[in-house]
Amino acid sequence: MGLERTLTIIKPDGVEQQNVGDIIKKLEGNQFRIKAVKMVRLMRQQAEKFYAVHRERDFFNDLTRYMSSGPILVLVLEGENAIDRLRDLMGATDPRKAAKGTIRQLYATSIEKNVIHGSDGPATAKTEISYFFSALEVL
Ligand code: CMP
Repeated sequence: MGLERTLTIIKPDGVEQQNVGDIIKKLEGNQFRIKAVKMVRLMRQQAEKFYAVHRERDFFNDLTRYMSSGPILVLVLEGENAIDRLRDLMGATDPRKAAKGTIRQLYATSIEKNVIHGSDGPATAKTEISYFFSALEVL
């Protein structure tokens, strides 16, 4: 609780389908402040490192291939209870199960191409932010 930071990624499908503007509008409209932003394209190995916790999952290969398939937009967001609130706004991992009006319900096309990532807890948020940004880059 309190003022928190979280890492969000607009995944390759979101960038490809030009949903970046709509998604950022939704984030800003829900009291998230942008503290850092960059567009990058991950190498396969960088995607594997980011998703290392999922290494044993059967979707790991597909996931890391997809996450390195095109540019992504990476943002640090700040807000009250930002980690849980972002996850609520994103909706369920599987867009078919995502609540109406959530980002995944609106823009995602499959459980893999689910348009947005959000850190799942305070420790993860810290690790994920520092994976992409130096302290100087987070304003
Ligand atoms: P995310 O929760 O951000 O991080 C893990 C990602 O793996 C998830 O989003 C999906 O993009 C992807 N993924 C692909 N298949 C599955 C699956 N069966 N279950 C969960 N995540 C999956």
